[in-house]
Amino acid sequence: MTHYRCWAEVDLGALRENLAWIRHRVGPDVKIMTVVKADAYGHGLKQIAALLMQSGTDVFGVANLAEARAIRGVGRGWPILMLGACLPDEVETAVKDGVALTLSSAAEAEWCAKIAAALGKTLDVHVKVDTGMGRLGVAPAQALELVQRVRALPHLSLQGLYTHYSSAEDDAEFSARQREKFREVVARVAAAGIHVPLIHANNSAGVLHEPESRYNLVRPGLLVYGVVPPGKRQPASNLHELLRPALALKCRVSLVKEISKGTPLSYGHTFIAPRKMRVATLTAGYGDGFLRAGSGRASMLVGGRRCAVLGRITMDQTLVDVSRAKEVKTGDEAVLIGRQGREEITAAELAEWCGTIPWEVLTAITYRVPRVYLGGHAA
Ligand SMILES: Cc1ncc(COP(=O)(O)O)c(C=O)c1O
Repeated sequence: MTHYRCWAEVDLGALRENLAWIRHRVGPDVKIMTVVKADAYGHGLKQIAALLMQSGTDVFGVANLAEARAIRGVGRGWPILMLGACLPDEVETAVKDGVALTLSSAAEAEWCAKIAAALGKTLDVHVKVDTGMGRLGVAPAQALELVQRVRALPHLSLQGLYTHYSSAEDDAEFSARQREKFREVVARVAAAGIHVPLIHANNSAGVLHEPESRYNLVRPGLLVYGVVPPGKRQPASNLHELLRPALALKCRVSLVKEISKGTPLSYGHTFIAPRKMRVATLTAGYGDGFLRAGSGRASMLVGGRRCAVLGRITMDQTLVDVSRAKEVKTGDEAVLIGRQGREEITAAELAEWCGTIPWEVLTAITYRVPRVYLGGHAA
């Protein structure tokens, strides 16, 4: 039994196997960019980067330069692409740290080239095409022109051309339109006699549902961590058995008590006991990342059973109904995400209770929750 009050167990063996599964799925000729934004989706960036380096990731995808620098601190040599736009005052650091940047416009290309030239270095860049996400990227009709502009600029080296699906887990029709728009851009660039080393489009849902846009690089995030993107397009296979969630979130029972009918519970007394009940107080709350939106809706595993959250989740503590889990006592382990006995609560299920998505549930786990690494060589 650990001495932590709320902690996340990260199974490095699961991550290794998930990456191997993705490798198997896309084949040996397709590179894998593992997306490790937001502290590796809450799993702990340095440890996960080390594991992924050992397990054969080809490229890292990050949101910002601090993440890139943390990866460089773990190991050198791996290409890193910043998926977010680089602000003008960040470009110098990107050039010095050897981080490839995403370009959406000629203006960005110009100032990046200028800064790289001033430093006497060459900056790797990927041109992004907006096929329907509307966040970053050049319009498909202007993509070839931007590619040509980038190639004409000394000190920029065009390494990639990419796009991003907005709803590949949900909307086959919209995704097909995105896929087709990007295919046309790729064809136009090739017809102009331009070779771009890396062409990529597929996030996790793309890896599962859009094999035609695999090109020569895929960019999975959620799948690496063993979570299947929830949505209308669910994989037909037994994927949930092949991929293993790497993260389990746990806390402990701090108090068990009997309450009588009519007892109000927690802030705002939104829950009034409809009968005599046994209630456990647990050592996790929204300050740990157990989202308050799950109040009165989520469950936890305690004593091997699903126990409903009663009333509002508070900053550090949560109340659950253990009326049917008679043996539960102070000090026992409770599971917010993960398995206990024959029961399992997945990040996707918790997300649904909270009216959100598993990406948010995982990245919401806060700094005060220690990450405990199991089954591998962590950094
Ligand atoms: C540009 C880009 N590519 C890939 C990913 C990975 O997405 P997912 O976690 O759905 O695989 C993200 C994450 O949001 C992203 O922003």
